Amino acid sequence: MSTTRAQYGAQAVAGLRGSLPNPFPRTIGPNAARYLQEVVDSGLTSDMVGRFEKAFAKELGVKHCIATPGCTPALAVLAAAFGFEPGDEIIVSPVTDYGTVQGLIRENYIPVFPDTEPGTVNMSARTIAPCITDRTRAILVVHKTGLICDMDPINELAARHGLIVCEDVCQAVFGKYQGRYAGTLALAAGFSFDSEKTLGSDVGGCVTTDDDGLAERLRFIGQSRGGEMIPHFGRAHTAPGYAHRMTQSTAAITLAQLEIIKPQVEKRDRMIRRLTRLLAEIPGIIPLPIPDYVEVYSCWMAGFSIEPAAFKCSGEEFAAQLAKAGVSGAGQGKYYLMPAALTFLQEKAEKKIYPFSQPPASRAYHYSADTCPQARDFLEHFIRWSTFCEKYEEEHCELAAQLVAEVAEENRA
Ligand SMILES: Cc1ncc(COP(=O)(O)O)c(C=O)c1O
Repeated sequence: MSTTRAQYGAQAVAGLRGSLPNPFPRTIGPNAARYLQEVVDSGLTSDMVGRFEKAFAKELGVKHCIATPGCTPALAVLAAAFGFEPGDEIIVSPVTDYGTVQGLIRENYIPVFPDTEPGTVNMSARTIAPCITDRTRAILVVHKTGLICDMDPINELAARHGLIVCEDVCQAVFGKYQGRYAGTLALAAGFSFDSEKTLGSDVGGCVTTDDDGLAERLRFIGQSRGGEMIPHFGRAHTAPGYAHRMTQSTAAITLAQLEIIKPQVEKRDRMIRRLTRLLAEIPGIIPLPIPDYVEVYSCWMAGFSIEPAAFKCSGEEFAAQLAKAGVSGAGQGKYYLMPAALTFLQEKAEKKIYPFSQPPASRAYHYSADTCPQARDFLEHFIRWSTFCEKYEEEHCELAAQLVAEVAEENRA
């Protein structure tokens, strides 16, 4: 089989040229080397992971943080900890990364994708409501680009139907919704500290929750591999668990990054609001709207839509010209549309392969771009760049907007 494999972290942006800042090399907290040295000097006896977990929980204002080697494993552990039945349905944001759904699929739950709200990248209570069935067990929301979903109506809807709500906060770390941090707005949350993320470390992540019982189960399933100590025997595996533990050295870097994150997020918020105002002045350009309930926009990627009638080029051509003009990493994110990207799932659903063979097997599941027409159409004209970062100053916002305006002028219909 011949494949072109996806690239991650610094590798994914290697070779990018342009006049705007790039997150790599990452800004590293001043204490990183000291914490790493502590791990080495202690002969690996330091509890750097525990220190990071306590510090992160304190900064976020939650009771528990369970560190993992990424958000994909964090959400996989969370999915396993739920203990739902194969074939149970989980409602998931349709515009996201594979890491959001990997654990759900491995647990043989069935992901159900509502559409997005018109003109946005996020789902809402209004788009979720028609997807709820007697098999729905939970809702997993993603705060895409860092824009927090309107959580109060989602939580109210979930409460009416007895559903659990969880957050994927990979792109919204320390963003605020009406005075509350993303990650404190539901039962539990998954975070990513991947090198390219806002709190960029060396491939890390965590789950957070206020629920003591869930926290214990997450550690049991995710770190102790579902192993219990039985007297006169030893380890018995009473659940099929994982060994998704963060390393001491990653914890050292992540702790140092945590110490510098909050001013960085405030800066991202200020700069993206400035950029949004500038982009809104360009005819035919619609920046991603920032709802009033987003108090701090912890923006991971900048983006805007083009009005199709205003230009003679496609979204893809516009993005390519923008990247060439100097907005490094500008491109489209059609692959974020999970029902279109999960081609193996469509195949399983069509052939009714387990868990799609589970009762009620009469229900038909479809996964394609047409599953979420609003999201499909939005992504057709959406252009984004994930090189937006805390290094942006006012002058960079102005330059980025100027480059967008120049490409827009060249392509006016
Ligand atoms: C929304 C979202 N969820 C999950 C993930 C997966 O995170 P990780 O790379 O830490 O496994 C990502 C990473 O891009 C993401 O953006």
